[in-house]
Amino acid sequence: MSILNTDGAPDLSQVIAGVVFKNPVIAASGTFGYGREYGELIDLSRLGGICTKGLTLRPRTGNTGQRIHETPAGLLNSIGLENPGIPAFIEKELPRLRELGPVVIANLSGSTVEEYAEGAALLNDAAIDMIELNISCPNVKAGGMTFGLDPEAAVSVVGPVRKAAPDKPLAVKLSPNAPDLAAVARACVRAGADALSLVNTFKAMAIDIRRRRPVFANVSAGLSGPAVRPIALRMVWELYGALREPGAAAVPLIGMGGIAGAEDALEFLMAGASAIQIGSATFPHPQTMIETIDGLKVFMEKEGIKNLAELNIRGGAEKTA
Ligand SMILES: Cc1cc2nc3c(=O)[nH]c(=O)nc-3n(C[C@H](O)[C@H](O)[C@H](O)COP(=O)(O)O)c2cc1C
Repeated sequence: MSILNTDGAPDLSQVIAGVVFKNPVIAASGTFGYGREYGELIDLSRLGGICTKGLTLRPRTGNTGQRIHETPAGLLNSIGLENPGIPAFIEKELPRLRELGPVVIANLSGSTVEEYAEGAALLNDAAIDMIELNISCPNVKAGGMTFGLDPEAAVSVVGPVRKAAPDKPLAVKLSPNAPDLAAVARACVRAGADALSLVNTFKAMAIDIRRRRPVFANVSAGLSGPAVRPIALRMVWELYGALREPGAAAVPLIGMGGIAGAEDALEFLMAGASAIQIGSATFPHPQTMIETIDGLKVFMEKEGIKNLAELNIRGGAEKTA
């Protein structure tokens, strides 16, 4: 649902779970830190939202060994949730992040249900706008993606997090590695998710042929970037449909995976996403998100499209609020 009406100009605003985004372009978790590094390169106030690096209750140093490896059309990462811990995030990063203007989304991760719930309780009392519950990180040994692969495991963490953070809108970030993504998604909605983000990275690997061993200490890593975009788009398309089958409850989708400009973003918005996130594309080209916002506006102006709901080609009015 758009709410900001400007005189004739296309309205890029979006409301997701009651949170107002001035445009649908959000910095993806883990690719933007807490906004600090990019402040000198782009006007952060123009972004629709900023999603933090995955936060855990206690500080984590992340994985050892190589953490990033480029592929011809993508990026493999095995960062392993390096972060200062939720209390330090709230004290040291959040006040500055809050002042920038965009919607602040805290990406929450953990190894156990208890750890997730304790973290959620702290975030419930913090000045963030939304929690993105990460049950899809492929780069940690315990927790992370294991919760996102099957509906029961997902409910076991979404339920307690929902309970621990009753005041915050809750998006659950899904794994493209789940054998039945729609089943996990429906279970998350039943357990209290207000929105769903998709997709996290795809489990993948690389081998160092000279050293004759896997590049990453964990063997597998997460693939993102242009290589995954058509698959991620197909997943958004299918999930949009699956959540509208009889008996299912529809919630807004935040789409991502390989988006590197306005044309890519438009595909996701047409497929049914209410907003999009951009991650890997920011590394080689920090202006990507700003150019995407400008490009969306130009496209909508040229095509006579007044608001984001009109971009959705799946038919019917969107339930986004
Ligand atoms: C270096 C790196 C770190 C990431 N860290 C996180 C994270 O902490 N939490 C999370 O939910 N997703 C994380 N992701 C996944 C991204 O948020 C996003 O879902 C994925 O990269 C697909 O989008 P993209 O192709 O635009 O990068 C990370 C991705 C990259 C490349």
